[in-house]
Amino acid sequence: MAKILLLGSGELGKEFVIAAQRLGQYVIAVDSYANAPAMQVAHEFEVIDMLNGAALDSIVAKHKPDYIVPEIEAIRTEKLYDYEKQGITVVPSAKATNYTMNRKAIRDLAAKDLGLKTANYRYANSAQSLHNAVSQIGMPCVVKPLMSSSGKGQSTIKTEADINKAWEYSQEGSRGDVAEVIVEAFVNFDYEITLLTLTQNDGNTLYCAPIGHRQERGDYQESWQPATMDQNHLETAQEMAKKVTNALGGNGIWGVEFFIAPDGVYFSELSPRPHDTGMVTLAGTQNFNEFELHLRAIIGLPIPEITLERMGASAVILASEFSENPTFSGTENVAPLAKTDFRIFGKPTSRPYRRMGVVVTHDSLSGNIQDVTNRAKNAAKLISVHK
Ligand SMILES: Nc1ncnc2c1ncn2[C@@H]1O[C@H](COP(=O)(O)OP(=O)(O)OP(=O)(O)O)[C@@H](O)[C@H]1O
Ligand SMILES: [Mg+2]
Repeated sequence: MAKILLLGSGELGKEFVIAAQRLGQYVIAVDSYANAPAMQVAHEFEVIDMLNGAALDSIVAKHKPDYIVPEIEAIRTEKLYDYEKQGITVVPSAKATNYTMNRKAIRDLAAKDLGLKTANYRYANSAQSLHNAVSQIGMPCVVKPLMSSSGKGQSTIKTEADINKAWEYSQEGSRGDVAEVIVEAFVNFDYEITLLTLTQNDGNTLYCAPIGHRQERGDYQESWQPATMDQNHLETAQEMAKKVTNALGGNGIWGVEFFIAPDGVYFSELSPRPHDTGMVTLAGTQNFNEFELHLRAIIGLPIPEITLERMGASAVILASEFSENPTFSGTENVAPLAKTDFRIFGKPTSRPYRRMGVVVTHDSLSGNIQDVTNRAKNAAKLISVHK
């Protein structure tokens, strides 16, 4: 039995712990607040500030895990190199978690070192240098803090007048001590996908069927699998995913994000862990869902193939208010719907737009993916979160 220290205990962590429990592994779930979703199903839990290196050191020394599995980006990732040197396996690798928490590191690796096609980009560390960067990239362009996720501090510049606002907004949304931003040319894509990619210790890299998704306010609203796409574009995306996961190293599932535009496939970014849009795999779309794949690859169980068993969709259930004791209504209206299910994450508090649950729908592979997605969307509307 392996001892796993899970850094981050949200809904993705919760499903990962359930997968680990099913194979008899031991999990200590960590987050900055008590009673987080993954803690509710883990053997033990710790409440610490994961950006605090000393706090991380103390729980690693206390539990002596075999594996450290980051579930979020906001971790003092420099520390993970030390743990790796101590013989602990950091998943997928210290380099992967460290590079992907900083947009500069991952973007320079992808675009410069590996030569992947990305949106044109520049960096800026002041309002003045942002003006220069925008004049080089052109408008529209997207500004993102180097350290942020879920669209925090991110905005699109369409006119000169937006530039100062974009700088100020980026500084409010930036995590940690870095003020710098990336400015990217706006890619007028036809659609975007997540390509879940599995790396294993036998070197056999596998791909899940592409997942389509729609974003609003920086968070995904619906995802569906398979996304209909050109076979050539899919193969291009797979090659890029292989290059970037190879360069970062280690075993596990990765959520590699791409934009598919009229002039080809753009690499956007990647998560070295299960991806939120991959919750669609909870609809039973594959022989193993993304959490089961992650766990198996980590502990070294070989996965010979990933098969698409049926089509599916997921749609998020969001809170609309602040509450210290959120309650749900409408689940009784979703339960009777055919080929439809839901998850409630068990988050102890709510705030506007916080993701509290998800609806998943499916159909046979001969179904219509648009209909399956609409069913998920409409079913999610039936569930509401109250104070
Ligand atoms: N250069 C771009 N051109 C067009 N759209 C973009 C661009 N960059 C980002 N977007 C849109 O914004 C979304 C979020 O961007 P991105 O994934 O870089 O941010 P994030 O904060 O890391 O999000 P998350 O952590 O939720 O994946 C993308 O999925 C895409 O819809
Ligand atoms: Mg993203």
